[in-house]
Amino acid sequence: MATVMSTASATATSTPQPGEPVGIGFIGAGEISILHNKALKSIPGARLVGLWNRTPERALQRAAEYGCRRYETPEELVADPAIGAVFVLTDLDTHLQYVRLALEAGKNVLIEKPLGATVAEIEQMKATAERCGVICVPGHNMIHEASLARAHDLIQAGELGKIVSCYVMYNIQHSEERASTLPGMVRHILTHNIYTMLYLVGRPVRVTALKAMRHYENLSKEDLAMCIVELENGGLAHLCASFAADDLSADPWTFMVKVIGTAGATRYTYQDWVEAKRGISHSRVYTAYQATIANEDRYFVDVCLKGGKPLSTLEDAIVAQKMVEAVEKSLAEGVTVSIV
Ligand SMILES: NC(=O)c1ccc[n+]([C@@H]2O[C@H](COP(=O)([O-])OP(=O)(O)OC[C@H]3O[C@@H](n4cnc5c(N)ncnc54)[C@H](O)[C@@H]3O)[C@@H](O)[C@H]2O)c1
Repeated sequence: MATVMSTASATATSTPQPGEPVGIGFIGAGEISILHNKALKSIPGARLVGLWNRTPERALQRAAEYGCRRYETPEELVADPAIGAVFVLTDLDTHLQYVRLALEAGKNVLIEKPLGATVAEIEQMKATAERCGVICVPGHNMIHEASLARAHDLIQAGELGKIVSCYVMYNIQHSEERASTLPGMVRHILTHNIYTMLYLVGRPVRVTALKAMRHYENLSKEDLAMCIVELENGGLAHLCASFAADDLSADPWTFMVKVIGTAGATRYTYQDWVEAKRGISHSRVYTAYQATIANEDRYFVDVCLKGGKPLSTLEDAIVAQKMVEAVEKSLAEGVTVSIV
């Protein structure tokens, strides 16, 4: 099947011949680009052609490390016919600008989470992708995991009975230096918990949230956020996002997903695969984390670019952002907030 193409893309994108890998360009070459580069090396259907980064020194360094071209500007990158898809890997505040640039140049886009700063921004991305006839896929990597696919299928088939509760718990200590470049826990991590919850047990109805600062001393953003969610299906969810501490207990909730139903239960945990070496921002390599990025990129190339539906769509990203904004309102006003 051909790569998803638009009229606009006819000028800026060459269709890969059958068997030829699709060319990928990175806009942004920060920490997460290291994992996407590693992922692409394992995908026969894709090839990293080049990157652009705001800081030229880092662009040159990363292009040399990745063995790809460095573009002088993002406009030059999106104009290259060798590039069929763009990964937007910059800070949240700049996502919309680069997503629009790439989509309007006829490029398919994978965009890191959280997608936009507001619901309206994600709606603009969706409208632009539809207008340009190209695809825009949320980088919702955590659900690209075989154990969660099985959990999803069991739940969809009703094998777990009525959903009672869903827990998505994240406890991985990050340095203050690393956290200083990222939004707080609500936007940076809770977004992962929320789209994972959506994928498994469906939409939220109401949310109550609390946050705290337990580890950082010089940052003004939270390093811990939790919320309790009422689900459309009648069950409840509990989501936890923490950069404050690793869970060093005997059964750690490093990244742990549990769904309990009236007729069965399921659990997935990063702790099933741990490598005793430092990860990029983690004290250990949690094998499943890198694997979810590789699985996500492979799914984008092998399924989404060939017309298949993303595991998590832009509509899901809009619901996730609505819930992020409800969490923020709950935190600001100390109330339970409905999600409409
Ligand atoms: N999926 C995941 O598990 C995961 C993990 C980490 C980060 N992320 C996401 O990846 C994205 C990048 O995060 P990172 O960890 O690589 O951060 P980073 O701080 O290492 O890199 C940030 C990147 O954004 C660029 N940038 C910042 N401000 C810019 C501006 N005004 N104009 C152009 N470029 C700008 C920087 O040059 C750099 O390339 C963020 O959206 C983040 O939420 C996702």
